[in-house]
Amino acid sequence: MAQRLKLGVLISGGGSNLQSIIDHIERGNLAAKIQVVISNNPDAYGLERARKHGLPAVCVRHTDFSDREAFDRELLRILTSSGVDLVVLAGFMRILTPVFLRAFEKRIINIHPALLPSFPGTHVQQKAIDAGVRFSGCTVHFVDEGIDTGPIIIQAVVPVLEGDTAQTLADRILKEEHKIYPQAIRYFAEGRIRVEGLRVLISASGSAPEAALHNPPLES
Ligand code: GRF
Repeated sequence: MAQRLKLGVLISGGGSNLQSIIDHIERGNLAAKIQVVISNNPDAYGLERARKHGLPAVCVRHTDFSDREAFDRELLRILTSSGVDLVVLAGFMRILTPVFLRAFEKRIINIHPALLPSFPGTHVQQKAIDAGVRFSGCTVHFVDEGIDTGPIIIQAVVPVLEGDTAQTLADRILKEEHKIYPQAIRYFAEGRIRVEGLRVLISASGSAPEAALHNPPLES
């Protein structure tokens, strides 16, 4: 069997994206292996999800460290000793320092519940509703030193509907997150990603749909 891409997944909460990655691997749809799951939050349900699937799951509490760099160095120690190729941030709510970013340059990806570069940061579903946009969605991107600014790998678009709350919109977006994150990791596993500045080029990715999306739909 070909060498499988070794993942380190960082979480802080429920871990539904982690679950989707696990499911894709177990179904044979993603040639990757989760070496370790790390949470900064001891109560993260994602830790339990990992253990249920026999995956190494550890908690590293950021509050046990004197500063961000010391916390990051501990994460690095675990990830490198686990032989991780790609760091997957899946609802990880800590900002990583340059010490960490340099060690895994172009090998850290994140998922964000908005169409970047619009709406970086937190509470973005509410911000999208308040701004009156007709579409939102999710983005998988490389992590650089900015907040949600790195090169974009894949996005999914969902409509924003009248009557949406932050929760109903978040739920609609999350369903798409569960599809695009495994797909982004698959590009890595297959060695198909090249980065040129802010543009990510994906080899033999098939044809991109040219049709526009309309919300509300066109009536004629
Ligand atoms: C997702 O919406 C993700 O985009 C954001 O945090 C949430 C994590 O959800 N970064 P889960 O823990 O994967 O369920």
